[in-house]
Amino acid sequence: MEGPYPRRVHVTDVGPRDGLQNEPQPVPTEAKVAFVRGLVAAGLTDIEVTSFVRPDRVPQLADARDVMAALGPAPEGVTWSALVPNERGWEAAQACGVGKIGVFTAASETFSQRNVNASISETIERFRHVVKAALAAQVHVRGYVSCAVACPFEGPIEPAAVSRVTQQLLELGCEEISLGDTIGAGTPADIAALLDDVLAHVDADQLVLHVHDTRGMAVANVVEGMRHGITSFDASAAGLGGCPFAPGASGNLATEDLVFLLDGLGIQHGIDLERLRAASDVLAPHLGHPFVGRVRQAPPLPWSHRS
Ligand code: HMG
Ligand code: MG
Repeated sequence: MEGPYPRRVHVTDVGPRDGLQNEPQPVPTEAKVAFVRGLVAAGLTDIEVTSFVRPDRVPQLADARDVMAALGPAPEGVTWSALVPNERGWEAAQACGVGKIGVFTAASETFSQRNVNASISETIERFRHVVKAALAAQVHVRGYVSCAVACPFEGPIEPAAVSRVTQQLLELGCEEISLGDTIGAGTPADIAALLDDVLAHVDADQLVLHVHDTRGMAVANVVEGMRHGITSFDASAAGLGGCPFAPGASGNLATEDLVFLLDGLGIQHGIDLERLRAASDVLAPHLGHPFVGRVRQAPPLPWSHRS
C-alpha cells in the first residue's frame, strides 16, 4: 500500500441478506434470485445471499432454501455466503451448498440476547463446532461482531470489548471478522478508536468493515478504515438494509456509493457501476419505498470520473 489508500479493495455485497431482511414487504424468491444474478453480472464475487435463521423471527428470508436451490452452484470465482446462528443453521446451509458462512455475535450483551437469544459467551460456544465443521467441509467462515461502535440498548461500546470478541472468533478459526456499526452511529473518530484498539491484536487483512449509513457517515467511515489499512468492505446494493432486532438501524453503505468513492480515489474493485444499478432494478416493484443509496438515486453522470 502506497499513500493512505490501498490499490485494490474487496467488496462483499450483503444486499440480498442484510438489505432484504429489513424490508417490510416480502420480496418474491424469483426477484431475489434475479437480484443476486445481477450482482454477479456487475462483477461482485462475494455475495451474502440469505440467512438460515428462525423463519418466524426473520420471515423476509424464510425462503433461504428456495433461493439457494434456484441459484444453483456459484459461478467460477464467485462465493455464495449465508448467515448461520447455530448448528441447525449450519446443517441447512451446508445442504444448500454455500461456499461461506457468517457466524454472528456482538460486542453488546443486550443486543446479543435480543438478536439471537443468547449471551456473547453462549454464542461463542455454539460456534465452536460449527466453525470446525465448516472448515473441515472446506466452507469459508466469517465472524461478525455487531454493535462494534454502539448498541441501541447499551449506548457506546468500548473498543476493548470488540477486540475481545474479535480475538475469540479468530481463535475459533474464523478466517475474517466483519466489524458491524449496526445502527450507523459511528463517525471517523469512532472508527479510528475502534481500529486502533483491534489492530493492536489482529492484522488488518483479517478485518472487514460493515458500516450502516443511518446518519450519512458510512463513506467517511470507509475512508477512515482504508487509512487504517482495511481493504475489505461490506456494502448493500441500492443501500437497503438494517437489523430487525436493532431499533433505528437502517440501510447499509450503498454499494453504488462505495464504488463511486473508490472510482474517484483510483482504487480498483472490479465492479461495474451501471450494471450494479441494473441489478437492483428488479427489486423496485417489490419495495414500498424508493432506493436509499445516494448514487443510486442520482442520475448517472454522463462522464466517468474513474481515475
Ligand atoms: P432460539 O429460539 O433461541 O433457538 O433461537 P432454540 O435452539 O431454543 O430453538 C427454538 C426453535 O427454533 C426450535 O424449533 C428450533 O428447531 C428452531 P421447535 O423445536 O420449537 O419447532 N431453530 C431454528 N429454525 C431454523 N433455523 C435455525 C434454527 N435454530 C433453532 N437456525 C436463533 C435462536 C438464533 C435461531 C433465533 O434467535 C434467530 O433466528 N434469530 C434471528 C437473528 C437474525 O437473523 N438477526 C439478523 C441478522 S444479524 C445482523 O443483521 C447484523 C449484521 O448485519 C452485522 C451488523 O450490522 O452489525 C450481521
Ligand atoms: Mg448489518
